[in-house]
Amino acid sequence: MQVLRVAGGARLAGSVEVVGAKNSVLKLMAAALLAPGSTTLGNLPAISDVAIMHQLLGRLGCEVNTSGTGATDEVCITVPDHPQWEAPYDLVRKIRGSICVLGPLLARTGKAKVALPGGDAIGSRPLDMHFAGIERMGAEVRVEHGYVVAEAPDLRGASIWLDFPSVGATENILTAAVLAKGTTVIDNAAREPEIVDLCQMLVSMGAQIGGIGSSTLEITGVDGLKPTTHRAVADRIVAGTWAMAAVATRGDITVRGAHPEHLEIALDKLARAGAEVEALPGVGFRVAIAERPRSFDVVTLPYPGLATDLQPQAIALLSVADGTAMITENLFEARFMFCDEIARMGADVRTDGHHAVVRGREQLSGAPVRATDIRAGVGLVIAGLVAEGVTEVAEVHHIDRGYVRFEEQLRALGADVQRVESDTFGG
Ligand code: EPU
Repeated sequence: MQVLRVAGGARLAGSVEVVGAKNSVLKLMAAALLAPGSTTLGNLPAISDVAIMHQLLGRLGCEVNTSGTGATDEVCITVPDHPQWEAPYDLVRKIRGSICVLGPLLARTGKAKVALPGGDAIGSRPLDMHFAGIERMGAEVRVEHGYVVAEAPDLRGASIWLDFPSVGATENILTAAVLAKGTTVIDNAAREPEIVDLCQMLVSMGAQIGGIGSSTLEITGVDGLKPTTHRAVADRIVAGTWAMAAVATRGDITVRGAHPEHLEIALDKLARAGAEVEALPGVGFRVAIAERPRSFDVVTLPYPGLATDLQPQAIALLSVADGTAMITENLFEARFMFCDEIARMGADVRTDGHHAVVRGREQLSGAPVRATDIRAGVGLVIAGLVAEGVTEVAEVHHIDRGYVRFEEQLRALGADVQRVESDTFGG
């Protein structure tokens, strides 16, 4: 088993580069299906989720060629005139994000059969809003033998209200609507920077979309789209992870390639914790702190609220901050599984429903712990950096799903982190 062995005590200092966002790139790759021919996407992170989406597009009949530096890639996706419309379970179960092929396949072929991704370590993730949205557009949706089968020979525009601004539902409805007959309005749409990125790619393919960046999207269907060249937006969650790591370790990190405006609330919290937060126009931002950070409360919400994907990293920081913090998790209740792991390192964290209370300690204590998902994984590494002694983080494959060469980047900032094979994890 591979584990990350983290020696506590480093103060992270230096500069890191952030590339394209996982949660954008997966959707951009799926959206390439909307036009026959070759679409080129740039600034892709070399992470395992992207490799799996690459395989999935291959199964759907696309030719996918990747070139790059090892950290950031460019991918050319050549989509056939008649793509396959079945996304199989063996690939879909590995990344939930692959459900985003549903909208593009339905729009292109009038039919889609996509395996249901199944359970997830961060909690229940139903797809009812995805289904209700495409049903309003005339699709017939049924679940059979573990697959969702959607059929719509004739997708038509519709007025759709989302009960909650779901990222995935907004994306699937949007990518179905761009080729539907007539106009679709999505009210209470998600407006994450990754949705804006997807809209911008679709517009460059010839789609007609109004209200980009707002919670009402108006999409007028067109007869066909053309392939495009697009560069993915920078990963705000990876950038936010570095910002939290800087403050937890009382360090000084310049995050290049990031957009601080996509992290307004998170960076404001860090400033209130006592950090110096500096936007560097055209470059990214810098976060530095010399003192012990002060505690702050966290409420996770859809964008522009503080992202649930930064919640474990925030808890890691707060577990060594001065004071008591209340964390309210509004998206994925099971994300607090992370609290049981960080408690093994001496963190004083109590949870009750979707609230957690964290009383800051001077220091944590290194221990063997398990990553339960991507963000829990990096949260535990941050905790390891502020712990006395050595922390071993198991289930590293979660971290590899979303972070490019994480331990190499940490070492470049001064941390003592090694990826090792361990037959005796925790023993
Ligand atoms: N929801 C429903 N019904 C639906 C869809 C969603 O009840 O039909 C609920 C979910 O259970 C959840 C909330 O709505 O409580 C929000 O879910 P959303 O659909 O917005 O999330 P998602 O599209 O499944 C994406 C990211 C997640 C990120 C969330 C929220 C991808 C591949 N995943 O998931 O990223 O946490 O948006 O921002 O884009 C991660 O990267 O670590 C990660 C989990």
